[in-house]
Amino acid sequence: MKQVQLKNILIKDVASIKEAMRNIDQFGLRMVFVVDKNNTLLGAVSDSEVRKAIIKGIDIKGKISNILNKNPIILEEKDRKNPYQVNKIIRELYERMPGSEYILAVDKKHRPSELIHLRELNLKSRASGKKTHRGKHILIVGGAGYLGTVLCLQLIKSGYRVRVLDSMLYGDYGMKKVVKQTKNKNIEVIVGDARNISTLVRALTDIDAVINLAAIVGDPACKDKPEMAIETNYLANKALADACKYQQINRFIYASTCSVYGQSDEDKELDENAPLNPVSLYARSKIQSEESLLSMKDENFSPIILRMSTLYGYSPRMRFDLVINTMTKDAVKNKQINVFGGGKHWRPLLSVDDAAQAYIKCLEAPLEKVKGEVFNVGSSQQNYRIIDIAKMVHTLVPGSQLMVEKSSDNDPRNYMVSFAKIEKLLKFKARHSVERAIQQMKQVILGTEIEDVNHPQYYNIKYLNETF
Ligand SMILES: NC(=O)c1ccc[n+]([C@@H]2O[C@H](COP(=O)([O-])OP(=O)(O)OC[C@H]3O[C@@H](n4cnc5c(N)ncnc54)[C@H](O)[C@@H]3O)[C@@H](O)[C@H]2O)c1
Repeated sequence: MKQVQLKNILIKDVASIKEAMRNIDQFGLRMVFVVDKNNTLLGAVSDSEVRKAIIKGIDIKGKISNILNKNPIILEEKDRKNPYQVNKIIRELYERMPGSEYILAVDKKHRPSELIHLRELNLKSRASGKKTHRGKHILIVGGAGYLGTVLCLQLIKSGYRVRVLDSMLYGDYGMKKVVKQTKNKNIEVIVGDARNISTLVRALTDIDAVINLAAIVGDPACKDKPEMAIETNYLANKALADACKYQQINRFIYASTCSVYGQSDEDKELDENAPLNPVSLYARSKIQSEESLLSMKDENFSPIILRMSTLYGYSPRMRFDLVINTMTKDAVKNKQINVFGGGKHWRPLLSVDDAAQAYIKCLEAPLEKVKGEVFNVGSSQQNYRIIDIAKMVHTLVPGSQLMVEKSSDNDPRNYMVSFAKIEKLLKFKARHSVERAIQQMKQVILGTEIEDVNHPQYYNIKYLNETF
């Protein structure tokens, strides 16, 4: 993470609220200090204070001095030599702004003199030296899902605070496991529908960055519930992005899919500029969202699009309707793996754990590197033909039979994808293999955690069909 410079977090009292928010986002301190023309400190404004003012109707073109906190926590020259006093001040800082890393020191004339990293103060207080620097507050819409629950756990482990907004479409069993595992620390769950504007606005209170995973996921589910798919995958995402932009929440990460490449006839890796050839409403709704988000980009709003490979592996909210998970479950439970259309189609794969890491990379990357960018998310080593996936499962589940039907596959998707951009720009590298996931899922399927692997809650289309 970049060292924050004093000059970057000072702003003149005549600057606009919008300019102040740009500085806050760019330099990562989550606040700016406001000075007059003589450089005397007048006060400070934090991102959450600005957002509260915006939602109460303030004009962001107005002066920052209109919403000034005149008593920010700072270190005055007289206190610097007194360790007891320094500790007291820092404790107050952590209480008011969890995750703070720096404190502003002022000279005798109340002019900012230095931005001190808390580490340099040799504090004895509980927060010193801890990995609190990331303590940002992240909203994950759709965070109770297959990817969302894994991402929640990884974010909390990395020191973030997480809020989930999810309608619990497939039940809350996954989220309950997350809350239990984290001892309900640094996680807050709002059960609500992302299609409701006031729910969205409530969920955005005090949030630093947003990840939108909420969707009707998969071609069959969208085909079966088209209205729900359009409302959730496109319209609700648009409303969420609009609400973020209005409240000056800059970083917005959107879960798209490699399904946007649809049916490609060439055995050639497709990069982010390849033509899109969607074969389903699911893919079209994701493309519409990508386009609307990118068109909203401006100096204070930074959408980031992640086109993910097909995911696999264990999650607290398990899905057995994803190719590797389905094949593993069928091999373990039915001793049979079915492949249609000869299994010649290409599919890029990625473990759900690695996918979650890609989101963290995007949260932590300098904004200028990711703003308005589209990334394919996966691994160059994990473009597979369906038949090869089946053979792998077959080898790792002894006693299973491989049944290959030559008849045409009713899933026409066929794409081999290039991940050079994310590997190069964000140094993203998948760490987990398909083999490891198959072994791990075998244990889960045979264990006691999942009572009935055929329960509709593990299959999006089955569950939606039975419930709505
Ligand atoms: N799983 C994959 O292989 C894969 C691949 C590429 C892209 N994606 C994308 O990743 C995201 C997450 O997928 P997943 O596999 O975790 O799916 P999932 O179905 O497990 O999770 C989606 C979550 O969104 C929630 N949700 C749906 N409608 C909502 C609404 N109106 N309001 C609030 N919450 C709502 C659901 O309750 C669910 O918890 C999706 O956007 C999906 O398109 C997934």
